[in-house]
Amino acid sequence: MTTPILVTGGTGLLGREVVPRLRAAGHTVRILSRGGGTPAEGVEHVIADLASGEGVSAAAQGVHTVLHLAGLPKRDGELTRALVDALRGTDVEHLINISVIGVDRIPVRSAIDRGAFGYFAGKADAEVAVEESGIPWTTLRAAQFHEFLQANFAAMTRLPVVPAPSGMSAQPIATAEVAARLVELVEGEPAGLVEDMAGPEVLTFREMLRGYLAATGRRRPVVDLRLPGAAARAFRDGANLAPDRAVGSQTWHQSLEGRFR
Ligand SMILES: NC(=O)c1ccc[n+]([C@@H]2O[C@H](COP(=O)([O-])OP(=O)(O)OC[C@H]3O[C@@H](n4cnc5c(N)ncnc54)[C@H](OP(=O)(O)O)[C@@H]3O)[C@@H](O)[C@H]2O)c1
Repeated sequence: MTTPILVTGGTGLLGREVVPRLRAAGHTVRILSRGGGTPAEGVEHVIADLASGEGVSAAAQGVHTVLHLAGLPKRDGELTRALVDALRGTDVEHLINISVIGVDRIPVRSAIDRGAFGYFAGKADAEVAVEESGIPWTTLRAAQFHEFLQANFAAMTRLPVVPAPSGMSAQPIATAEVAARLVELVEGEPAGLVEDMAGPEVLTFREMLRGYLAATGRRRPVVDLRLPGAAARAFRDGANLAPDRAVGSQTWHQSLEGRFR
């Protein structure tokens, strides 16, 4: 029996790509989430809540490596602090954290910033919690995932007119490619903050929305929406991009091909 890798959020968008890759690499996996799931060979589910801390220490028993993928928009700091508290006194030797590009460059100071960009403040807080945990750690900052943007666009394009944040771009990446990198990090030594991981092209939100609308066969007018605040300004200045780390290979259009029609 091998020591399981504890994967918080293993049932989420990213977790569902990571878990089969960990299995293929020969690891057993213990998934921590609130909802649980159906066990499979080499995969067990533990129900625990990182918001209250309930069940988290028990889930970490007998574990050496934790891959922290659980997230709740704007509450990542709180969840990560609860995780770190629960890991104290356990045998965990490596805590791997997924973060987001721009976390160090997008200022979230005002109520306006918190409204649309509070997610980045939560991720920044989570990074600090990991760094101060006393557990050897690795943090990977990734760009927005294709599949995450597509899920958001599905909701946005139900509106009769689709708002596109003006002047803003993303460098979307396939969730599967980030998952594969995380498996490499699980197999490596704690490395601190590793190099960012972004997709192959920088696209405006308008360009991505147009591609999404074409792929889904929807016709909608797209209108520019200028977001106020310092965080939005940083976004417009490209703080969420890493053009020199365009390491993903799947393009936005490839990710849309065959998915919707
Ligand atoms: N999506 C992106 O484009 C993107 C880009 C860069 C980084 N990231 C980061 O990657 C991570 C995973 O993102 P994702 O898109 O896969 O998220 P997701 O699909 O929303 O999944 C979140 C996971 O966290 C679990 N979770 C939420 N609250 C929890 C709690 N209180 N206690 C225990 N588990 C909890 C959820 O399961 P239950 O609901 O059953 O608890 C689920 O398994 C997040 O840290 C996110 O910030 C995402």
